[in-house]
Amino acid sequence: MQDPNPRVAGEGFLRLEKAGISVETGPGAGEALELNRGFASRMRRGRPWVIAKVAASLDGRTAMASGESRWITSAAARDDVQHWRARAGGVLTGIDTVVADDPRLDVRREDLVGRVRQPLRIVADSRLRLPETARLLAGEGGGEVVVFTRSGDDRRVAALEAAGARIERQADDAAPVNLEGMLARIGALGVNELLVEAGRTLTGALAAAALVDEWIVYLAPRLMGDAARGLVRLPGIERLADTPRLEWREVRFVGPDLRLTLRSASGG
Ligand SMILES: NC(=O)c1ccc[n+]([C@@H]2O[C@H](COP(=O)([O-])OP(=O)(O)OC[C@H]3O[C@@H](n4cnc5c(N)ncnc54)[C@H](OP(=O)(O)O)[C@@H]3O)[C@@H](O)[C@H]2O)c1
Repeated sequence: MQDPNPRVAGEGFLRLEKAGISVETGPGAGEALELNRGFASRMRRGRPWVIAKVAASLDGRTAMASGESRWITSAAARDDVQHWRARAGGVLTGIDTVVADDPRLDVRREDLVGRVRQPLRIVADSRLRLPETARLLAGEGGGEVVVFTRSGDDRRVAALEAAGARIERQADDAAPVNLEGMLARIGALGVNELLVEAGRTLTGALAAAALVDEWIVYLAPRLMGDAARGLVRLPGIERLADTPRLEWREVRFVGPDLRLTLRSASGG
């Protein structure tokens, strides 16, 4: 596989050839791309490889109507998530998940701590509702906290910066955070693989904009009923023909739950 980094663009091959080493591209290229999918995505598309992780009941519900969602899946599934966090350069969530659950989004499995770089913890928060007291900001040992916002409120910006957050302000606008712009900036911050651990609103908005490459769905053997919140909101999608198509990649047990891996049918 040729290095997708335009700054390298075949120079390594030239050097090897000059040193008398013949170079053949092609064999194993698929496997090489798979191993480096995040880097290739950032180089070719200017954004990270985006993996949406969801914990759901058999009927595809991700929170009760009250917002309660802890814990739908087993401790074994949550332990497994630590592996995906550890390999990601960034973990993205929505402000409403922070408000509801106050998550830390860090890597804390004993066998991983100290061996991996903590991922950036990223919040999409158009109006800067993130409380300075959030555990994300208080947590010790977690990665840097980056907040994407539209807010021009300098006092909130200063307060959150004082609490340790880095604020990425998009042009002041009433609209929610621009997702393409946010992903491009996350790529520019060096994130190859981005794990999305958000609720149905942000995850759905990313899916509706065809910005999710891979899905990891932990499916618990329980039913939550149709009053509970669904897997994704898909704004603007009305017809079956317009719904995102996925391909199954893998199904396995993780403790008592199933882990389903899917890819976007468009190839990501
Ligand atoms: N089962 C699971 O896997 C799982 C995982 C995470 C959370 N949850 C549960 O899900 C619930 C929260 O989910 P949620 O859907 O309400 O919230 P969410 O998806 O975590 O956050 C949604 C918020 O993100 C902000 N946002 C910024 N830019 C956006 C954009 N372009 N598109 C969409 N949103 C954007 C919006 O707030 P602003 O407009 O203010 O920016 C929006 O209200 C909680 O009950 C939590 O426990 C479940």
